[in-house]
Amino acid sequence: MPDIELTEGATRPDTAADLAEIETEARARIGAAASLSELEEAEREAIGKRSRFSASYQQIGRLEPSERKEAGRHLHELRTRLEAAAGAKRSTLTAAARAERLAADRMDLTEAPGGPLAGHLHLVTQIREELEDVFVGMGYEIAEGPEVESDWYNFQALNVPLDHPARSSVDTFFVEAGEPETILLRTHTSPVQIHLLERGQLPIYAVVPGRVYRRDTPDATHLPVFHQIEGLVVDHGVSFGDLAGTIDTFVHAIFGAEVRTRLRPGYFPFTEPSAEFEISCMICHGAGCRTCAQTGWIELGGCGMVNPAVFEAAGVDAEEWTGFAFGFGIDRLAIMRHGIADLRLFIENDVRFLQQF
Ligand code: DAH
Repeated sequence: MPDIELTEGATRPDTAADLAEIETEARARIGAAASLSELEEAEREAIGKRSRFSASYQQIGRLEPSERKEAGRHLHELRTRLEAAAGAKRSTLTAAARAERLAADRMDLTEAPGGPLAGHLHLVTQIREELEDVFVGMGYEIAEGPEVESDWYNFQALNVPLDHPARSSVDTFFVEAGEPETILLRTHTSPVQIHLLERGQLPIYAVVPGRVYRRDTPDATHLPVFHQIEGLVVDHGVSFGDLAGTIDTFVHAIFGAEVRTRLRPGYFPFTEPSAEFEISCMICHGAGCRTCAQTGWIELGGCGMVNPAVFEAAGVDAEEWTGFAFGFGIDRLAIMRHGIADLRLFIENDVRFLQQF
């Protein structure tokens, strides 16, 4: 023990009074530390190798065997107390350092070169919230589902088996997990229908807004990540007329009372019968123009009566329950309502564009 000076001829380690003195001194130093490095220094002096504390430890061996245990315990307790004091001090100093850093990094954003900056919600978010309000007003709940799905929820339970042609019409992003091509980024919000049905709480009146993913190259009318809203109603005796009335109601709320809606026969594996719903063109009011390809109508989304195969896949009795579903793109609805030429404007974050809404 070359570094430790023991009192010449000492026969006893430090007494309780000595330990109290060591503690008082160490606490004072720890308390006085003004920085993390000063705290480290204080700790080293208090309980480090060259400390009086360590010297006391070394001397335990000189005690009578019967006394060693208790002396050891006192020293151990002292060390625990000092470590706790240092730990508390460390937290205080770390918090103070962080607060100082944050204060130094603070930027005043209330004044910018072009005038005061005031953020607002993205147009797509605004419309999502408008849609939510309309449906909450009709007694619907707002539901959510996972963006990473299994093939079962995204396709199979929705009556799209592995070899179904409807699969090749959407290019799916697969996630490298599990068996190849079984875990994916949902290509539509329809899988949430299955989650809602599986919950087993019927009837259901729900809308599900959310992000969906398709392997498309961004262009004026496609984005690989976009937004849909799904509707699902399951109750006794739900009719196609209920579906038509529901679509009419929210279209009027979003586009105005003068806009008309119509349903055209369509095909979706998860609904039977299925329809595409269209709204009268708000550019030409039905007369025919470039936007509506001279038809006077613009397609908004798909809908139909829930296919009994979907009820069965989710464990709902198709004899007892009936339902309708619909789904459409929120981004697409936004460009139509505001006459926006290119979907990519939504993700370019150009304030000159965003500020207009
Ligand atoms: N999931 C369809 C799509 O992404 C949209 C859709 C069509 C949803 C018909 C539905 C529906 O709920 O009944 O193109």
